Amino acid sequence: MKCEPGTECRVALPRATLTDLFPPWVHCAAMDPRRVDPSVLLPQEQALVAQAIDRRRRQFATGRLLARRLMASLGMSTPAPLLRGSDGAPRWPVGIVGSISHTNTQVVVAVARHARGRVLGVDVEGDQPLPEELFSQLCLPAELRWLATLRPREAGRWAKLLFSAKECVYKAQYPRTGRRLDFRDVRVCFDEATGTFEARIRRCAGSTVFGASVSGRYARCAGLVFTALASDG
Ligand SMILES: CC(C)(COP(=O)(O)OP(=O)(O)OC[C@H]1O[C@@H](n2cnc3c(N)ncnc32)[C@H](O)[C@@H]1OP(=O)(O)O)[C@@H](O)C(=O)NCCC(=O)NCCS
Repeated sequence: MKCEPGTECRVALPRATLTDLFPPWVHCAAMDPRRVDPSVLLPQEQALVAQAIDRRRRQFATGRLLARRLMASLGMSTPAPLLRGSDGAPRWPVGIVGSISHTNTQVVVAVARHARGRVLGVDVEGDQPLPEELFSQLCLPAELRWLATLRPREAGRWAKLLFSAKECVYKAQYPRTGRRLDFRDVRVCFDEATGTFEARIRRCAGSTVFGASVSGRYARCAGLVFTALASDG
């Protein structure tokens, strides 16, 4: 499928876009939140977004709906509410690792059976260029030097991918470490030939959940950018 960068197409996301981002042990799905009625939420989940605006309730409901379906596909069929910690992270049931991300038009969820060392992160963002004035808040000097070699619009689009990859890394490591990271704690390098990125957490080097570095995948499709990280430790 061909989409112009920066336009969020109102088309279904090709399933392969998502599944190609993850190894086979990850179950993943995406859905347009505008199609989902928040009444699919279980009562305790509904209470978490009772005061939220309609768009947020639909995004939250879509994440919970997909998570429930994916957990059922892993053999966990009793629907228990997927609650949220005070830190915003979902409280996945024992035996499950997972990650959720949303835009106005897509909610993406990835789950897997928990295993020693296993972490999972996913992020989706609109494929609009990141404004240049934000680069220095999000990027390390080496990343800034690389962006400076690109044409301005391309630099903005790659900066958006850098942002997404760092959010993805953050979500993957947080449930294991409880560590809040600054954007400049994570160094990301992309490999266009393979559609992968390498992330290195600078702070507390050697004691992070990933060891020295970790590799993730990215894709651009339907006016969106996707980053995914699934590591077996
Ligand atoms: C948590 C955070 C990463 C979410 O990213 P986002 O782009 O704003 O929003 P997304 O739609 O991609 O993701 C939202 C989902 O992230 C998940 N999430 C929230 N906090 C989380 C955490 N601490 N750990 C893991 N997942 C978390 C939730 O499932 C949430 O969806 P839900 O509320 O519907 O369940 C972001 O809001 C944040 O707090 N960032 C600050 C930390 C940071 O970015 N540091 C620099 C990166 S290294």
